[in-house]
Formats: sequence, structure tokens, C-alpha cells
Amino acid sequence: MQAIFDDSLKTGNELIDGQHKELIDKINNLVTCCKEGGGKLQAIKMLDYLADYTDFHFSAEEELQEKVSFPGIAEHKQKHAEFKQAVAELHEMLAEEEGPTDAFVEAVNKNVIEWLYVHIKGFDRAVAEFVQK
Ligand SMILES: [Fe+2]
Repeated sequence: MQAIFDDSLKTGNELIDGQHKELIDKINNLVTCCKEGGGKLQAIKMLDYLADYTDFHFSAEEELQEKVSFPGIAEHKQKHAEFKQAVAELHEMLAEEEGPTDAFVEAVNKNVIEWLYVHIKGFDRAVAEFVQK
């Protein structure tokens, strides 16, 4: 499935929302590549782009939380670490296969897209609300 940035994902924080849009674009590029038979090397490249942007975005979010002394930062960082681990596992999956399989795309849906939706709606929104206070 393609990820969609709609109002349900808005946190109201311009920096966070802008980066989430970019993140979702990177996810969709990966999904499209897999669905259109982009092959192993192309899929690895798209996953690398996603991993790099994830690092950049999580660092920005964590920096923001530090700046405002957000009380939930430890737990939030833990969630980010979990996501990075999921992306690392996707890398391993790709490395072991000839190319992106249906199981790989399924793992992207579950461990990237669905995870991100839940994370944004709960954890990131809590940060945005705290910043606004
Ligand atoms: Fe976050």
C-alpha cells in the first residue's frame, strides 16, 4: 500500500509535519520500486534513502525534545531505536533475497507504514502539543 499524509497525521508542528511528508515520500518510492519490479539493487537504494532520511528526521525530533525538555524523551528515543531496528531487518531481508518479495512488501507495510501512523498519532503529536504549550 502507499502511505498517505492526510489530516489525521498532522501534528500542527510545521517542522515535524514537513519532515513526515518527506519521510512518507521516501517510503512510497520504496513501495513503488518493489511493486514495479525495480529489482534488488534499486530496492536497496530506496531503502538506503529511507534509512538516511529516518536518521536525519529522528535526530531533529530528538533535538527538539531536548530543547524543550520534553518529559517523554527516553521512551520516545526507544521507539525511534525500534524503528531503526526494523529498517535494519528490512535490509537483511533484501540482502538474503533475489529481489523484493511479497513478504518484504508486507513487512514494509506492517513495520514501516503502520508503525509510523501509530507513532505519529500518539508520540509525535504529544511532542507537538508540548512544544506549543
Ligand atoms: Fe517520533
